[in-house]
Amino acid sequence: MKDFKRIVFFTGAGLSVESGIPTYRGSGGVWKQYNYQEYACEEAFIRDPEKVWDFHDQRRAMIADCQPNIAHKIIAEVQRRHPRTTIITQNIDGLHQRASARKVIELHGSIWRLRCPESGVIEDNFEVPLAERRCGRNSWWRPDIVWFGDALREETTDAALRALRQCDLFLCIGTSAVVYPAARMPQIAVDNGAETIEINPEKTPISPLFQRCMRSSAGPALAELFPGYI
Ligand code: APR
Repeated sequence: MKDFKRIVFFTGAGLSVESGIPTYRGSGGVWKQYNYQEYACEEAFIRDPEKVWDFHDQRRAMIADCQPNIAHKIIAEVQRRHPRTTIITQNIDGLHQRASARKVIELHGSIWRLRCPESGVIEDNFEVPLAERRCGRNSWWRPDIVWFGDALREETTDAALRALRQCDLFLCIGTSAVVYPAARMPQIAVDNGAETIEINPEKTPISPLFQRCMRSSAGPALAELFPGYI
């Protein structure tokens, strides 16, 4: 692994399973319990911001009680030892950062940031529960998350694409690869000739793209690939 110069970790909800955070689509998954049309789209927020905030407050409380796991820590250590490592995540939980990862490209935003829809102001906020849901008399803070139907932020996508086009090792960890445009990104690393590894206990629609598939949890697989990094 030390021969690779530009590593990209591309991560999804499976990475945080060992921290106790449920995935979205597996058994006990968030979208198995909650209809995203009521909790995770702009229309739901316009209809009933209190209900959407109750859901997100509950998620913030749950995530705040969880700790980064061995996989987050190994990834952060790889980035520390190989500074040209890029972490591209679909996760909104902030656990990469809490494991001391420095630069993280958050494709789907963060549950720990707020955005004012009127002024465009974006702020970090770690209160649990959020003390003030309103950012103006007629407007509400919204979680700075890419909900269903939202577009990804252009500068975020551009930063991810730059890293994908340059990487020589691409590790795709814990994503079902069914949500676009994120699910298209692994193909870019493949097209650019990177070495590619998928880590996921289950097969995914993009598994055939990878040179190696490790059918295992994130922590043990990364410990095998990066011995001595923890
Ligand atoms: N280690 C690695 N992978 C795991 C583990 C584990 N311990 N446990 C489960 N997985 C895998 C599952 O097999 C599944 O393929 O993690 C994947 C989780 O898939 P999803 O729940 O669909 O999560 P993700 O791919 O991150 O979802 C993408 O969907 O709703 C949106 O915005 C949300 O970012 C999210 C996006």
